[in-house]
Amino acid sequence: MNLHIHKAVFPIAGLGSRFLPATKASAKEMLPVVDKPLIQYAVEEAYEAGIRHMIFVTGRTKRSVEDHFDTAYELESELEQAGKTELLKLARSISPDDMVCSYVRQSKALGLGHAVLCAKPLVGNEPFAVLLADDLMVGQPSITSQMVQQYAQLQSSILAVQDVPREQTDRYGIVSGTSIDNHLTELSGIVEKPAPSVAPGTLAVAGRYILTPSIFQELSNTPKGAGGEIQLTDAIAQLLKKEKVFAFRYQGTRYDCGSKLGFLQATVDLGEHHPQVGAEFAAWLAQR
Ligand code: UTP
Repeated sequence: MNLHIHKAVFPIAGLGSRFLPATKASAKEMLPVVDKPLIQYAVEEAYEAGIRHMIFVTGRTKRSVEDHFDTAYELESELEQAGKTELLKLARSISPDDMVCSYVRQSKALGLGHAVLCAKPLVGNEPFAVLLADDLMVGQPSITSQMVQQYAQLQSSILAVQDVPREQTDRYGIVSGTSIDNHLTELSGIVEKPAPSVAPGTLAVAGRYILTPSIFQELSNTPKGAGGEIQLTDAIAQLLKKEKVFAFRYQGTRYDCGSKLGFLQATVDLGEHHPQVGAEFAAWLAQR
């Protein structure tokens, strides 16, 4: 049994319709919170958790993500010649030498489940993490590190969850199950975006998962579900009939940066704590 997680999948082929017009021709995942694109926060989170192979499931308008994690020869040689060593270090740190990036294309946005299935040839037969970069997660240690630690104990699929107000259940996958302790619930059910009146609870899945490779079998048999998309939630509902699946209440904060409001909240919170501009920004916020 593989106790460590070596690979992370970043599904970034969605349409990003909640963030139009910004996402018409540009990748939602390249929107910067302060000075860093969303996808870089997620990749750094996976790297902090010891993961070195990053697998991006891309689509139209996402080429800038590939460029972002590639070497930028012109930029680097200009910075080198100008003696701007700090900026050069910053540009190079985006892709550390021991990090491998692979890309696979989802040619049609058929849903998150379908996007994860597209990564199967690159993931192979081992457990892996899934990070949805539009959920910006802040935690110490990172949320993915917390989950990787849980995986070492549980050796089962784990979903990051948080409590949400009941009136918001129709925005999330909602889980039900048996509580094991303050942080862990063993799943007995999961349903995608239930109306508040029928939701089995208020524990909602956030955009971080650790999945065993058996999920691929379930995904290949999953028909289109809510919204005409192949839903990861439906495949997990099938998986938990065969294997244990756990929900993990992470410690940290989630910003839904796929929505305009969440993106603004992240910008203000992270802006206030930014090492360069934080103090000045906080003072400006306080006096306006
Ligand atoms: P979202 O539900 O946020 O969908 O997908 P979206 O299309 O990106 O955004 P909206 O709802 O239209 O505004 C959750 C994650 O799954 C990926 C998205 O890129 C996002 O990271 N996804 C979704 C895919 O990779 N492929 C898909 O077909 C659908």
